[in-house]
Amino acid sequence: ETKRIYISTSQPGREALAEAARILRDGGLVAFPTETVYGLGANAVDAAACAQIFRVKGRPQDNPLIVHVSGKAEALPLIREWSEAAELCARKFWPGPLTLVLPKSSVIPDEVTAGLDTVAIRVPSHPVALALIEETGLPVAAPSANLSGRPSPTSGAHVWQDLRGAVPLILDAGSTQVGLESTVLDLSAGIPTILRPGGVTREQLERLLGQVSVDKPSSDRPPKAPGMKYRHYAPKGDLQVIGGVREKGLERMAEEIAKAHRRNKKVGVLCTLESAPVLHAQLPDLLFVLGSEGRPEEMASNLFEGLRLCDSQEIEVILAEGTEESGIGVAVMNRLKKAAGQKVIPISPAQG
Ligand code: TXA
Ligand code: MG
Repeated sequence: ETKRIYISTSQPGREALAEAARILRDGGLVAFPTETVYGLGANAVDAAACAQIFRVKGRPQDNPLIVHVSGKAEALPLIREWSEAAELCARKFWPGPLTLVLPKSSVIPDEVTAGLDTVAIRVPSHPVALALIEETGLPVAAPSANLSGRPSPTSGAHVWQDLRGAVPLILDAGSTQVGLESTVLDLSAGIPTILRPGGVTREQLERLLGQVSVDKPSSDRPPKAPGMKYRHYAPKGDLQVIGGVREKGLERMAEEIAKAHRRNKKVGVLCTLESAPVLHAQLPDLLFVLGSEGRPEEMASNLFEGLRLCDSQEIEVILAEGTEESGIGVAVMNRLKKAAGQKVIPISPAQG
């Protein structure tokens, strides 16, 4: 039996927080909102509690968890060294969607880090997440609160879809703000390296730290964030990302809609507000607006909802309009390409 408590973001109810904290201290799991996506939390210093997270999600054992704390002071006992770069990042971006990978101390059990010598830590900015961590008085390990292989949950309703019956408590504060997971930044060795693009952009990090590199896995080197090797989410339908110049991309999408209809396939379109009227005229079975063109933060906040909708409406062909790969657009395209199994149709002006 799963209890779902609706909780206000601006004034989180004390009773709900106390109940959630009690469950966490007793070794149980609680799903809670963060500003990025919902997390499935457990006491990070309780190995058995953390092992439960993997079972409930069906998560591969080699994929380490992010530990959530209420501030730098609470992060320090979990790590061996706090660097100058860590100090700068924490001052500028905590609380917020930036996860720092640092050398771990012995306080953190191997269940959390999947045996790695480093631990990923962040301070979430969502008032409910912060209040819950403070109330619990413990570091809280939490991956995204979806079943493995589903898009991360950006609303309490998404968590309910995935984890109903599997966890004792879901704190539901409605929709999250950022909508994509945090940026994971490795500060454990050499040049700061982005292992997963997210809410804090490379440009922002470079302004603060100088040179920042991006982990580029290849066929003979796996990604440094173990989770990045998984496709994460394969929609039931066949997803294609149409990237590049909008005018040409629109023509191509219209063609693909017509093609899918000729094959009697249910077709769904995820697109910008500006493209919606033209694509609507092609009568797709589902049209979902991700946000305005040039506002990748809107696309970020709506993307997972759109992907979940395609599945629940049994869409067979999904056409997603891409965005420019700068700022948070990098993270949007990273998630879209992963969901598409890297199937991107590049559109260049020359092709027209
Ligand atoms: O926004 C977020 O980060 C959300 C909310 C709940 O905080 N959490 C989240 O967790 O997205 P999860 O488990 O879905 O993704 C964690 C990512 C994975 O790719 C994992 O491999 C990587 O962080 N990671 C965790 N610990 C690591 C470590 N020590 N070294 C390298 N990568 C690590
Ligand atoms: Mg996840």
